[in-house]
Amino acid sequence: EIRLPTFEQTELFSRGVGDTTDVVQKEMYTFLDKGERSMTLRPEGTAGVVRSFLENGMASWPSPVRLSYNINAFRYENVQKGRYREFHQFGVEAFGAKGPEIDAELITLLALYFNKLGLQETKLQINSIGCPACRELYHQILKQYLGSKLKDLCTTCRQRYDKNPLRILDCKEERCRQATADAPVLLDHLCDGCQVHFNGLKRELDDIELPYTVNPRIVRGLDYYTRTVFEFISEHVGTQGTICGGGRYDGLVKTMGGPETPGIGFALGVERLLMELRAQAIQLPEAPGCDLYLAAAGQTGAAVRKLAWQMRQAGLAVETDLMNRSLKAQMKYAGKNKLPYVMVLGEDEIRQQTAMIRCLETGQEQSVRLDRIEEIAAIVRDQK
Ligand code: HAM
Repeated sequence: EIRLPTFEQTELFSRGVGDTTDVVQKEMYTFLDKGERSMTLRPEGTAGVVRSFLENGMASWPSPVRLSYNINAFRYENVQKGRYREFHQFGVEAFGAKGPEIDAELITLLALYFNKLGLQETKLQINSIGCPACRELYHQILKQYLGSKLKDLCTTCRQRYDKNPLRILDCKEERCRQATADAPVLLDHLCDGCQVHFNGLKRELDDIELPYTVNPRIVRGLDYYTRTVFEFISEHVGTQGTICGGGRYDGLVKTMGGPETPGIGFALGVERLLMELRAQAIQLPEAPGCDLYLAAAGQTGAAVRKLAWQMRQAGLAVETDLMNRSLKAQMKYAGKNKLPYVMVLGEDEIRQQTAMIRCLETGQEQSVRLDRIEEIAAIVRDQK
């Protein structure tokens, strides 16, 4: 796991994510700090991971270097279903491996995760957007195609025409979508190396019979991608439908001043994942709560808290009364909070070091010695 700063120098994102992207051009929360430096709330995690990878000398670690993060991210977007200005991403980045095997491994990691959650109908789409060499040639072909349609494109896309025409295919504007409906796609113009890589990825996925669709229109919204790009799509998460997106970025580490290092990763939108889980009526398991409630009957509070301390040291999650409640109110509290086990400890129990442990769900009771905490732990854990 890697923990990243919430904001970084603006230049990191304009260089890393790319200044022809919507994210950089329109969506960044940028401000001047007290030293008049331009800072930006991270719109995503990859650029920060690469900066940290280089600053911390990870390029010399054994390859592949695999990092994961759980972050909030910020984009000034038109808020709608599944699209927020502050949202959360779970992401993975892997550095150093250039073959398609790791592309497949990352994709299968996601597929496995979705399977384990019980998600169905999340569809995997893959594409290749080539390397700078084949993209250069393709740009000429695309520009030729779009040349006569320039007047139909939005202002942003007209600017993209010169700088990065591939991004026109990703424009959300209806007029641009129409104008590019039959545009040539990069997948038909890959160089040999990129074609071999893409074939390799498909073969890896076919070998394990993981279903996917090749969608030559996926270009992704960020500039650093090369070769493999992929998305997991669903119908339930708003117009975009993308729960998770990622791809290879073989040139990014070098662009940021490091040695030539291939990289690949993805980020999963946590809010969109939760929407999808809800839409498919999937209940997440509850986080483990408290094991045992120690109720004090009479003036035994101090002895109960001491016992709680001993039990906590033995690894049990124990609650005691901290509100000076009556025994009846303590039992009500334990019931309301669904604490699985309760022990009532009065003067007799403390003196004899013996008490009844009761399972609140079944009502079953058994006698236990208070100085045999491991036995109590075994009872409580057995039922978990
Ligand atoms: P991205 O496609 O921009 O890629 O975002 C990844 C995921 O974050 C999206 O699929 C979506 O689920 C979620 N997401 C993006 N914007 C919003 C928003 N405004 N509201 C809610 N959810 C959102 C990246 O960020 C890349 N860094 C992924 C990556 C990592 N590629 C390689 N490594």
